[in-house]
Amino acid sequence: MSVQDAHSIEDLRRMAQRRLPRGVFDFFDGGADDENTLRANREGFERIRLRPRVLVNVQEPDLSTMLLGRRAGAPLVIAPTGAIGAGWPGADVAIARAAARLSIPYTLSTTATSSIEDIATLAGGRLWFQLYVLKDRAFTEKLLERAGAAGYEALVVTLDLATGGKRERDLRNRFTVPLRANWTTVRDFATHPGWCLQLLRHGQPRFKNLVGFEGASDPRASIAAKVGQSLDAAFSWDDLQRLRERWQGKFLVKGVSRGDDADRLAGLGVDAIWVSNHGGRQLDGSVSSTDALPDVLRGVRGRVPVLIDSGVRRGVDVVKALALGAQGVAIGRATLYGAAAAGQAGAERALAILTDELRRAMQLCGTPTVAKIDAQLLQPSGSTHEPNQTVDHETIGR
Ligand SMILES: Cc1cc2nc3c(=O)[nH]c(=O)nc-3n(C[C@H](O)[C@H](O)[C@H](O)COP(=O)(O)O)c2cc1C
Repeated sequence: MSVQDAHSIEDLRRMAQRRLPRGVFDFFDGGADDENTLRANREGFERIRLRPRVLVNVQEPDLSTMLLGRRAGAPLVIAPTGAIGAGWPGADVAIARAAARLSIPYTLSTTATSSIEDIATLAGGRLWFQLYVLKDRAFTEKLLERAGAAGYEALVVTLDLATGGKRERDLRNRFTVPLRANWTTVRDFATHPGWCLQLLRHGQPRFKNLVGFEGASDPRASIAAKVGQSLDAAFSWDDLQRLRERWQGKFLVKGVSRGDDADRLAGLGVDAIWVSNHGGRQLDGSVSSTDALPDVLRGVRGRVPVLIDSGVRRGVDVVKALALGAQGVAIGRATLYGAAAAGQAGAERALAILTDELRRAMQLCGTPTVAKIDAQLLQPSGSTHEPNQTVDHETIGR
């Protein structure tokens, strides 16, 4: 079956599920604890109802928009995803290339399986670097230097990972990176020969940005534990301020769910705020991204653009997020399922599905441009989501 036979992100998800050992698929697919927030993210989008406009000329919908001062091919951003080489060798490069083809920003994770430099050389395009602040400040500093030297446009500091979330699927599957053979995993690997052969040919996935980092090399720790042990849980406002002053380029913060935090962050001089609950992988029970967004927008009061992720699986979800007031929408698993199913072709298919659905949704909503997607599309008060402030998508992102 080719990825061209996939007609939805869910189709790509199933293809990835068939191809991957259970441990790897569950690492990509799963959430924390009881996965309540993972489900709530989808329910949040599914609950929103739109009021389409009629008799608008929508012959040639224009999906392009301004994101952080530059035109992007669609109001989309690739969210950072760590350890994804476990699904497909070179998955990071595959997704980055797909993003470059669509002219949308690609965010490379601190725990990526390709290096900062390799992505810049092999993929190009608009590159953002996501930073987990590590206890080892000198190493953190080095990461910043490398991203700056490689020409990354933006730094995205993830704030919702003071410690690793409890992902029970990973614990049960005894999932680790590097992948290790044990009674649980051997059978799992052996029953997925295509994936196994690829692994033998290309070797173990590694955290390429963390080479030489002591905290990440404990061979007994699970991936979540490794990251968890190395994170600087003492990182707070003054540290963020110093980091902001240290980085010359655009500065984003990811993992914000509250209006009061957003207010203070906007005052601190960040260039954008990224609403996220890490795709339900961190605090189970945290508010869904669509429920967090209105409060964050109230806190921001139009000072900086707001991005959103967690739960986006359809083009119409993008319309809903923009109608709520987001400037752009980030996607994690959608392109990851594609890449895990078929490398770059799969990542491109995921983006083609999402942009085709977005184009269709814009036509059916009577919104020929991204700027026309506003709060008027939402159901008026009394419904689950009140129309929020109208956002000028063209100017605020400059
Ligand atoms: C396998 C996987 C790895 C991830 N790794 C990171 C990471 O290294 N840094 C980070 O800030 N977020 C990470 N995330 C969270 C994503 O950036 C994003 O917030 C989330 O996937 C959005 O939800 P969605 O998958 O429903 O689109 C990861 C998510 C997944 C699924």
